[in-house]
Amino acid sequence: MRVLVLGSGGREHALCEKISRSSQLEKLFCAPGSDAISRVANCVNLDILNPVEVSHFSEKNKISLVVVGPETPLALGVADELKKRKIPCFGPTQKAARLESSKAFAKAFMVKYKIPTADFKVFESFDGVSRYLDKTPERPMVVKASGLAGGKGVFVCENKKKALLGAKKLMEDKIFKEAGSCVVIEEFLRGPELSAMAFIDGASSVFLPLSRDHKRLQDGDLGPNTGGMGAFSPVSVSAKIKREINGVFKKVLRGIRQEKMDYRGILYCGLILTERGPKVLEFNCRFGDPETQAVLPLIQSDILFFFMATTRKRLKGMRLKVRKDFSVCVNLVSQGYPEKIKIGRPIRGLEREYREVQIFHSGTAFQDGKWRTSGGRVLSLVGTAPKISDARRRAYNTASQIFFPGMGLRRDIARRE
Ligand code: AMP
Ligand code: GLY
Repeated sequence: MRVLVLGSGGREHALCEKISRSSQLEKLFCAPGSDAISRVANCVNLDILNPVEVSHFSEKNKISLVVVGPETPLALGVADELKKRKIPCFGPTQKAARLESSKAFAKAFMVKYKIPTADFKVFESFDGVSRYLDKTPERPMVVKASGLAGGKGVFVCENKKKALLGAKKLMEDKIFKEAGSCVVIEEFLRGPELSAMAFIDGASSVFLPLSRDHKRLQDGDLGPNTGGMGAFSPVSVSAKIKREINGVFKKVLRGIRQEKMDYRGILYCGLILTERGPKVLEFNCRFGDPETQAVLPLIQSDILFFFMATTRKRLKGMRLKVRKDFSVCVNLVSQGYPEKIKIGRPIRGLEREYREVQIFHSGTAFQDGKWRTSGGRVLSLVGTAPKISDARRRAYNTASQIFFPGMGLRRDIARRE
């Protein structure tokens, strides 16, 4: 098979690394890819936000499968354009991708299909938010940009004053442009979070191991939300919670069928385990980052079989073979992340091999014989072992041998486990 992966971060590095081991693979391309990815795939300079350009390349190069890493190409209709040309695409069409690209749409979908989620209200104007907050009792709440904001458009607010400020940043100051012109205000929920990802083909689902992301910047879940500072997998939950999560996916599948959405790819459910059961915080229509870096090293099955079965709607009855190990992913981030970051810093410690971990590059460039930082999230260090404490130790041992000026990391990834 000739496969094209879209994207350039740590998630795509992990995907390319996994695909490169498939017995089905003839040639692997990645667009735009990165210097690190170029060691396992042929990187090509394509505008992945241009569905026609991606489709032309795929036709010309006889690509038999396109795997879409990030959400934006899906929201712009890359799967629709590929479908027109009969090129299999792992990732949903534009209409189905609205489950991620519009939180207002996702909320309406959850209400319609009775999927448990936080109570909410949707606002199209700042005046509307202001009037609503005037008559609402004081309490913590969560303000979210409805559109795509790279995981940074969510403000968890202790009080109404902060909620108003959050809505102002989104709707008046337009810090995420049009993505913040519609805002969702939600009830604040408490409980541990869980990332549930499954291959879905419109009729069936096959779960990947459950994982947990650490979204806040600092230890102890303090500081601003980020794209993710680390993750671990699997997360053990009770049989009851497993059944409830299964129920959520069944309801989503029913909704997808009823709304005639063409959804073939990964469905990611961001859940919070409240005292009243699991509730959905968000849907993503692609693999999570950094969850993917933690989960893929545990997969023993040939991943291309699952990608192809998904695009051919043949997931029914398939079972993923998973190692009985734990994995812990620690992200190294740039100074200033998740706000104004400093890049171009030389990275020390990547010259040598680390046998105990896998290293995925999120934001690096190889220049003049040296690795340098080139993004907010820089590296994902993934330790795997039969005991979670050993997986943690492996990841953190490696972290202590890598350095760049301004390097940041959380010290408590998977600590409580
Ligand atoms: P989201 O992008 O909607 O998943 O939100 C990002 C992060 O904000 C989540 O992973 C949670 O940590 C937090 N969050 C979102 N919604 C809520 C909520 N209703 N209650 C408490 N925390 C939330
Ligand atoms: N780790 C959360 C996300 O990928 O959106």
